[in-house]
Amino acid sequence: MIELSPSLLSANFANLKADIEMLEEAGVKWLHLDVMDGMFVPNITFGPVLIKDIRKISTMFFDVHLMIEEPSRYVDAFQKAGADMYTVHYEACRHLHRTIQKIKSAGMKAGVSINPHTPVEHLKYIINDLDLVLIMSVNPGFGGQKFIDKTYDKVAELRELIDSTGSNAVIEVDGGVNHTNAGKLVELGADVLVAGSAVFGADIPSESAKTFMEIMNESFNSRRR
Ligand code: DX5
Ligand code: ZN
Repeated sequence: MIELSPSLLSANFANLKADIEMLEEAGVKWLHLDVMDGMFVPNITFGPVLIKDIRKISTMFFDVHLMIEEPSRYVDAFQKAGADMYTVHYEACRHLHRTIQKIKSAGMKAGVSINPHTPVEHLKYIINDLDLVLIMSVNPGFGGQKFIDKTYDKVAELRELIDSTGSNAVIEVDGGVNHTNAGKLVELGADVLVAGSAVFGADIPSESAKTFMEIMNESFNSRRR
């Protein structure tokens, strides 16, 4: 599988319905929802209340990225609101293994995200329990930041860990992703790319999303050859 997961953070919140419909019409299947608590990251966004309402108008796969301290506290709330993927930060969980089991018991897919300073090898003993690993390619908190180049090495390293352990986890990359770096990320092993400003900051966001999907599919096909 290969998916674009546009981040709603860069959308106009007064115009969410139109933006979501525009993405669906462009053929986008995933929607990335950035939840921030002002503690784990220096910014505050939205929570289950908003997700519950957009769930009513969309059948997209809700890829929820929890940038909050101890996200195990909100597993049930986000499940009820309609989250499909619940991705927590390695750095925000005291008992990460337990949190992963809790997410799965609630019926959601479980993802773990690592900040730019966190080594891939820290995931070694949980990799077979995960549905997704999210590599942050910026420091979390804001859209529109510059991509950190070391991310390429992390994607390649994670691809190797997943393939050598037989894990089913998909690799997602988030932060500063654009039309220029998307192809290389997929070639190195990324399956899902998050894009906020590169989609919603474009003159025609649906065209930007389509270009992303073309670039990604092309790189994915050459990766399989
Ligand atoms: C950053 C968020 C990202 C952000 C990406 O903390 O996790 O999902 O919205 O935005 P861009 O693509 O603009 O870097
Ligand atoms: Zn995100």
